[in-house]
Amino acid sequence: MESQSIHLSYLIKQEDELTQEETKLLDEARRATYRSYAPYSHFSVGAAVELEDGTIVSGSNQENAAYPSGLCAERTAVFYANSRYPDLAIRRICIAARDTEGDLLQRYISPCGACRQVLLEAEQRAQHPIEVLLYGTQGICCIHSIKDLLPLCFDDSFL
Ligand code: THU
Repeated sequence: MESQSIHLSYLIKQEDELTQEETKLLDEARRATYRSYAPYSHFSVGAAVELEDGTIVSGSNQENAAYPSGLCAERTAVFYANSRYPDLAIRRICIAARDTEGDLLQRYISPCGACRQVLLEAEQRAQHPIEVLLYGTQGICCIHSIKDLLPLCFDDSFL
């Protein structure tokens, strides 16, 4: 038997510690929460994606009466970015959310497994790490790479 481990390190930054580019992306993610369609969960998520040329594309969660037909903000943003700008790699993504009261989350939002899987593929397409900023009013969790969010992942190397 052999014991193995995976180590994850990340930063918690305050807003005044973000770069100009990160602040701009955060503003877009927060703005996108207002364009969420979440009549069922009343949980509004916004995601903003920065492309390699600096273009920012945002998305929000879009729900449906047939619940599984809805889509998370992250995948809405990534799929839109990839369909609108298929040749531009994603450099960074920021995610923000409002709770059922309409308040920005204090604790940073964490993307679901399906979004992590889609982001992983975007990172492989980009051929470089995609930085992830998970916003909470008490601190922004900054992760170097999507891969860090999905250890022991399944990707096209298995196919
Ligand atoms: N949601 C997102 O859009 N992103 C996340 O990271 C977590 C969850 C959405 C899906 C659903 O519309 C609502 O939030 C509640 O789960």
